[in-house]
Amino acid sequence: MTDQDRLVSAGKRTEDRLDYALRPTRLGEMTGQDRVVENLRILIEAAKGRGEALDHVLLYGPPGLGKTTFAHVIANEMGVNIRITAGPSIERAGDLAAILTHLRKGDVLFIDEIHRLGRAVEEVLYPAMEDFALDIVIGKGPSAKNVRLDLPRFTVIGATTRLALLTAPLRSRFGAVYRLDFYDMDAISRIIQRAAHLLKVEVEPDGLSEIASRARGTPRIALRLLKRVRDFAEVKADGVISAEVAAAALDLLEVDALGLDDIDRRVLHSIIEKFEGGPVGLDTIAASISEESDTIMDVYEPYLLQLGFIARTPRGRVATRLAYEHLDIPYNRLSLQKQLPLLDPTSEDE
Ligand SMILES: Nc1ncnc2c1ncn2[C@@H]1O[C@H](COP(=O)(O)OP(=O)(O)OP(=O)(O)O)[C@@H](O)[C@H]1O
Ligand SMILES: [Mg+2]
Repeated sequence: MTDQDRLVSAGKRTEDRLDYALRPTRLGEMTGQDRVVENLRILIEAAKGRGEALDHVLLYGPPGLGKTTFAHVIANEMGVNIRITAGPSIERAGDLAAILTHLRKGDVLFIDEIHRLGRAVEEVLYPAMEDFALDIVIGKGPSAKNVRLDLPRFTVIGATTRLALLTAPLRSRFGAVYRLDFYDMDAISRIIQRAAHLLKVEVEPDGLSEIASRARGTPRIALRLLKRVRDFAEVKADGVISAEVAAAALDLLEVDALGLDDIDRRVLHSIIEKFEGGPVGLDTIAASISEESDTIMDVYEPYLLQLGFIARTPRGRVATRLAYEHLDIPYNRLSLQKQLPLLDPTSEDE
């Protein structure tokens, strides 16, 4: 099973393209992430008041939490065009130059997966972001000339799941850097409720919390689960999502009470059973369950860390008592906290 096949994967899947109708378009429609919304509101209002382009904004956090949505919302609120691209699709410096020369004053250039920009491309981006200038070489050999073109003032919105992979010079060019966190139950419930309303599905309060508690604090997963539960309710029940219907649908989909699926459980079982609870390196875990370590790091690990099921130590990942309890495995280790200093779970340093 690839990550794309997982129901609770936070990564994008083709069916999610239908989500455009559910995607918020204004800041006022964004649920949760209150700190980010509040900061953006001030940033946007101030820039509009001065009639200037918005400062460059960097958004980072696990997949499915709203980075792309925020980028569109920001452009909307500023009343400007948004040009969308991604790190891996800008192959040469010339590709970026072509994009930059087509921007108009105030436009937003959204660069998804910005940590995957090539070095040569980054070199072009630095002066563009800092001085709104594009340095190009005209001609070849001894007659070649450096020419500096002026660009209109524009805004880069960068998005990344891996802040630690961003080079320091690139990071320093962003005036505003926001981290998106997992949503709490209340925010996720409100997101599901709004979507259910738009999809015209009836959800009882208990059905709502059943879905919300298995959504891993991630709006993309919440919306996906809602749609699958709706299908189930239509086929197996009277179309109304009650607690029983939601629980039956989600059990059938093998999403457990905390939103963990088969692969999460395999990660935990691997650490506990093959490596005696850890510490064990991420690459080793990945190899032992035949998954990519990048996928584990981006998609699975953030939520397991958030639940406190695994912890990061200087020597690798360890499974915590909570993970043993969740899997019903007796915990008979010395206190890990005494053995090893823990790293800050929110730090991105590897
Ligand atoms: N704050 C929010 N309120 C309501 N819905 C949201 C919110 N944030 C995200 N969503 C919904 O969740 C879905 C996923 O969000 P989005 O595509 O912006 O995530 P992302 O962080 O860009 O993910 P990725 O890292 O995979 O690109 C969107 O379709 C959107 O409808
Ligand atoms: Mg995105």
